[in-house]
Amino acid sequence: MAASILVTGGTGYIGSHTVVELQQSGHRVIIVDNLSNSNKSVLGGIAKITGTRPDFEQADCTDFKAMDALFAKYGDIKAVIHFAASKAVGESVEKPLLYYRNNLTSLINLLELMSKYGTEALVFSSSCTVYGQPDVLPVNEDAPIKPALSPYGNTKQISEEIITDSIKAGARYKASILRYFNPIGAHPSAEIGELPLGVPQNLIPYVTQTAAGLREMLSVFGNDYNTPDGSCIRDYIHVVDLAKAHVVALDRMLDGKSADKLEIFNLGTGKGLSVLEIVETFQRVTGVKLNYRIVGRRPGDIEQVWADPEKANKVLGWTARETVEETLLSAWRWQQKISS
Ligand code: NAD
Ligand code: WQD
Repeated sequence: MAASILVTGGTGYIGSHTVVELQQSGHRVIIVDNLSNSNKSVLGGIAKITGTRPDFEQADCTDFKAMDALFAKYGDIKAVIHFAASKAVGESVEKPLLYYRNNLTSLINLLELMSKYGTEALVFSSSCTVYGQPDVLPVNEDAPIKPALSPYGNTKQISEEIITDSIKAGARYKASILRYFNPIGAHPSAEIGELPLGVPQNLIPYVTQTAAGLREMLSVFGNDYNTPDGSCIRDYIHVVDLAKAHVVALDRMLDGKSADKLEIFNLGTGKGLSVLEIVETFQRVTGVKLNYRIVGRRPGDIEQVWADPEKANKVLGWTARETVEETLLSAWRWQQKISS
């Protein structure tokens, strides 16, 4: 069987967009997902865009035996891109053990199996949440890791340490840790996008659902921060730009071009936008008036964070290309498709 890339969490939001980019750049993909936060219909969307339906295995990454059987079945998995994780910050505060078990056991199982089967490379989904509120902006990869604000954030910090320690201890695989800023938007085809279950916790799905009339009103969490308009600032990156970075990071390792066995990259645009700027831009590009009100701060929110993406720009030769206007329009096209 031809060598393949195993994409865990590949029917999820970022995973599905990455599978598209992988297939379009010639990689053969196997998806493993337990469908806890996604739907098998995503495979049809991927097939429509790329002309190829990836192999799909419904399994849980915390199930060592099932994952061992999967590695054995496919024989030649040359790399793993590991997206599978639980990601709701608020839920992680209520159910910390679920988050530690799911996110950490999945990773440990994969690393053990990568060693057992001689898998060459890992790409890991980390998050700008590891920086907390940075002392210096834009934040680069050398900034200190701040105490985690949630069990979810802590799983990302611990995961980074687990990967680092395993490589220090002589594991044969290479790893690329990617720290995402705020991924938003959808594939321009509107065949795949974000499918939040229940009430969205993140800004953009709440904005698009409000614009579509599914939610009455968007709450803007705070306008008394120390920022130009008082609302929080983030670095919003188009999910397709983000997906492309995974292919570049993967190919760099597989082509033997990485400088170290472990490399860490920020994936962001380098531009910070406030919540109110997002609301204004969304209204301007879509022509849809958004019902919103200012409410109190959301506990745990960071005031402002945006990336210094220079390392990824220079070392990977990757840059986020999409404008925020196009990105918000893609999110809106996707929302209109799924709510029609
Ligand atoms: P998502 O929930 O859409 O995708 C994750 C997928 O993993 C889902 O399809 C889910 O069913 C699957 N999954 C979860 N646990 C599993 C398990 N034990 N076994 C098999 N499958 C499992 O999330 P996403 O937004 O695509 O995020 C992907 C990764 O990126 C996650 O690791 C997340 O923590 C990280 N990340 C996301 C963001 C963001 O804002 N979306 C930001 C930074 C980092
Ligand atoms: C963005 C801004 C909110 C909803 C989270 C995780 C982070 C990472 C990405 C995984 C903030 C404001 C939001 C709303 C609002 N995930 N907001 N009204 O909090 O930056 O990051 O997702 O790693 O770890 O914490 O993203 O989209 O929730 O919020 O005003 O209804 O929008 O206060 O300023 P966040 P978000």
